[in-house]
Amino acid sequence: MSPLFRPLSATDDPARDLLRRLDIEPREAPAVLWRVVRLAFRYRRRFAIAAITSLGAAFFNLLTPGLLGRAVDQTHHLLVSPDAGGGALGALGWTGALVLGASVLRGALQMASGYASEHLGQSVGRDLRVGFFEKLQRLGFDYHDRVHSGDLITRGMLDLEGVRGFIENGLQRLISLVLLLSVGSAILFAEDPLMAALTLSFVPFVAWRAANMGLRLRVAWTRLQERLAVLTRVMEENLQAARLVRAFASAQFEMAKFDVTGREALALANQRIVTRSRSMATIHSSYYLAMALLLWVGGQRVQAGVISIGQLTQFLAFMTILQLPVRQIGMIVNSSARAISSGKRVFEILDLEPAIRDAPDAQPLVKGPGILRFDNVCFSYAGGDGAPPALHDISFTVGPGQTLGIVGPSGSGKSTIAQLIPRFYDVTGGRITLDGQDVRSLQLASLRKAVGLVQQDIFLFDDSLARNIAYAAPETEESDLLDAAAAAQIHDFITALPGGYASPAGERGSSLSGGQRQRIAIARGLVPQPAVLIFDDVTSAIDAGTVQQLRAALQTVTDDRATIIIAHHLGSVIHADEIIVLEKGYIAERGTHAALLAARGYYARLFALQKSGAVDAREDVADRRQEVA
Ligand SMILES: Nc1ncnc2c1ncn2[C@@H]1O[C@H](COP(=O)(O)OP(=O)(O)O)[C@@H](O)[C@H]1O
Ligand SMILES: [Mg+2]
Repeated sequence: MSPLFRPLSATDDPARDLLRRLDIEPREAPAVLWRVVRLAFRYRRRFAIAAITSLGAAFFNLLTPGLLGRAVDQTHHLLVSPDAGGGALGALGWTGALVLGASVLRGALQMASGYASEHLGQSVGRDLRVGFFEKLQRLGFDYHDRVHSGDLITRGMLDLEGVRGFIENGLQRLISLVLLLSVGSAILFAEDPLMAALTLSFVPFVAWRAANMGLRLRVAWTRLQERLAVLTRVMEENLQAARLVRAFASAQFEMAKFDVTGREALALANQRIVTRSRSMATIHSSYYLAMALLLWVGGQRVQAGVISIGQLTQFLAFMTILQLPVRQIGMIVNSSARAISSGKRVFEILDLEPAIRDAPDAQPLVKGPGILRFDNVCFSYAGGDGAPPALHDISFTVGPGQTLGIVGPSGSGKSTIAQLIPRFYDVTGGRITLDGQDVRSLQLASLRKAVGLVQQDIFLFDDSLARNIAYAAPETEESDLLDAAAAAQIHDFITALPGGYASPAGERGSSLSGGQRQRIAIARGLVPQPAVLIFDDVTSAIDAGTVQQLRAALQTVTDDRATIIIAHHLGSVIHADEIIVLEKGYIAERGTHAALLAARGYYARLFALQKSGAVDAREDVADRRQEVA
């Protein structure tokens, strides 16, 4: 049994225990809730309208018991002295009209407050969503390395909804409950303290019971949600890895995984029903018990002439109008608990300051010839405590029209070099300059416009091929787009498709082969015509003949920019102006193809092996594995 799945006996946990399970720290909870409420203050007018209408509705609700009591007394008066005449009848009519008026007004105000609250909730929801998405766009890769994207999606959808829901429902209910209870009990105690105490006697018990139920339902719900998230993930992975699952005939295993989680989810859903029904049963019985007591004591007091029958009616009526909001304490507690734990998770993201961001005095890149320099660059991934640094003392220069080749075994730091250039991470030593300007001093947007990085893992949007290619420069001229596709050796393939450039790339480019996807990614990198072009191992799935054509075509496109080619196949780099051989983050060898061959080191050995075909075969397997993942 997974540690996530705790035993199901959550009937009488103390509140503290429940809070702990909800990941709510009692000491910080009020501050979080207050921050949620303050989100609504941004809409002062709407918030005021929601609050005032809600108070107004509560006010008219409070008027009704008194009016009903008066009506009963007036009726009683008519009964005991039938000859009181038209005056008494008229008074009764007036009271009736007032009752009617009060309930009409109450209904109207309640409707208005519901409308205003929903409007408010939706506005706050939208603000949060935009803020959250904007933050996601700016989060550094160091953050994404640590946090599962599914968690971010949960925060952006469910947690955000939790915060919004509280502003829409919880807040309004809380306001009217406080008013009903405080003003209501003041009125009652002024009339008759004993009767008031009896009328309100059910409140503490029901409130406590409902609050407890609210918390327990919340706990059960979060656990159910965890299970549902697992179900979603299993299903998602199953669909994404459909070929893998079929290939290994592991459908049985996957089915069992799904089934276990599905059953756990069902058990939790049932537990929620049991919790709710049991709590509702005790809540109802305590309420009716209190009502019976009130009738019994009240009847005696009416008989003794201490209070009128109308006053007894008033107390009974108060009980009925208090019943609903007090029972709703469960919902309020549930909604507040959700707002607190969800709010905390949403605020955590909103408060993050991305590690990689514009310096306060960041400047736009001043366009120069396009010279990229690494000066003694060192780098280690922040997360890898104790892990050896990924790069040591890397220096090189690539100018316009020049090509730098980077080769080396898997894990030697090739991609890391590529990712430092557009500042996906910051160097931990040395510096990287573009036309003499340290990349850390530049505005990120202007730096990233100048750097075209075609990455190893290719992502295609579920959109047309044209739009995928023009992704980085949607306004691009059609002729530029076609030129880029032609240079990337994919134009002929695309025009041969029935839909041409309008053909869909399919979900994650699944309708295309690995090599086709790589060539589309190359075209995408060429379109914005960046000063520095980096290809991170993007020819691994392209056949050798096409790579030759590609290299020739790229030469014309890249003759005025700095190009870095990272490759498994040495064939892609033999014409480079300089080749760096990386090993465990160090530059082990460097020079031109001819010089490296003459040095008879790692490069020369690898070249000999690849020429005989031995290494290629092994690496192709590795590449295919990458594609499946
Ligand atoms: N996001 C990351 N977080 C921590 N370590 C990483 C990360 N990416 C790569 N590494 C590590 O850095 C080293 C170099 O990786 P990488 O640059 O991807 O190698 P290559 O591209 O040459 O195969 C490897 O040891 C790898 O495990
Ligand atoms: Mg790599």
